[in-house]
Amino acid sequence: MKYLNLKFGITLTVLLMLMLGTGKSVFSQQAGKWVAPEDASKVTNPYAGDEQVTKDGETLFVQLCLVCHGKKGKGDGIGGMSLNPRPSNFTKSAVQDQSDGALYWKITTGRPPMAAYETVLNDEQRWSLVNYIRKFKKD
Ligand code: HEC
Repeated sequence: MKYLNLKFGITLTVLLMLMLGTGKSVFSQQAGKWVAPEDASKVTNPYAGDEQVTKDGETLFVQLCLVCHGKKGKGDGIGGMSLNPRPSNFTKSAVQDQSDGALYWKITTGRPPMAAYETVLNDEQRWSLVNYIRKFKKD
């Protein structure tokens, strides 16, 4: 009986460890800071300062991004309330200090729970969103 209990105990421990192990990869989807590759960060924005493109970015933002990132870009959109990690706050220097190329790369490739927009939006549209994200910069 004693032996059985011990065996059961070990089995239970192993099971628990397995559950914890898989739990890690399933629940904390991608731990750690999201950093764009150096090459991508160096890419320059062909539409920098183009106000018409920025306006188009605003339209797209309202249609596709506002739900999570919020009207004022603070990451407080209703669709992002229960996400982990929470949507980024575009008014913060953590975002604004990144290069246009880095933000463009993140919009292009995504990271769960945010989708990749590479096939959904063309190059100009993705740059237009970078332009618009700059509007949330605190002066
Ligand atoms: C389903 C909710 C959701 C939608 C819709 C969404 N995002 Fe995000 N976004 C997130 C989350 C969550 C993160 C943080 C991801 C992380 O840190 O791993 C994020 C991060 C970002 C970042 C990186 C900022 C940083 O912290 O470095 C950018 C740029 C971005 N989003 C732009 C956009 C744009 C542009 C759109 C619309 C085309 C959009 N997002 C739509 C949820 C969303």
